[in-house]
Amino acid sequence: MKKLETREDIELLVNKFYNKITEDETIGFFFKDVVKVDWDKHLPKMYSFWETILFGQMSYKGNPMQMHFPINEIQAIEKHHFAQWLKLWKQTIEENFTGQNASLAITKSENIANLMAYKMEMARKR
Ligand code: HEM
Repeated sequence: MKKLETREDIELLVNKFYNKITEDETIGFFFKDVVKVDWDKHLPKMYSFWETILFGQMSYKGNPMQMHFPINEIQAIEKHHFAQWLKLWKQTIEENFTGQNASLAITKSENIANLMAYKMEMARKR
């Protein structure tokens, strides 16, 4: 199995991940119905996001949390949605990559998803 080392690797990983996401019964609707995602814009942002996290490239300039509050207002993003997101992310990584960066991509996503789930829940209580 391959190591997760280059921008091309990230592109492959992210593309495969969103293929799973859009097919998914639990969370696919967020990306197709709640938000009509413009994939030509979203995918390059996600490549840069992961490039920044894994390789320290600083190509992503944005606020990953902020984007999710308005979605959460239209349709609550709940714990079980994040669990499914993480399951698919982990699955896609493990099917394609191995090594330190692959593990890092999993642990980072867990930390961000947990924080995001907490923030979304708090926002719904306000
Ligand atoms: C079930 C959980 C989640 C849902 C439903 C969700 C949904 C979305 C949607 C609909 C967008 C907007 C796409 C667009 O039209 O531009 C988005 C953007 C984004 N998401 Fe998520 N997301 C989830 C979890 C996560 C997690 C766990 C991460 C990070 C590990 C993440 C990172 C991002 C980033 C970086 C963007 C782009 C923000 C920007 O435009 O700068 N998302 N998400």
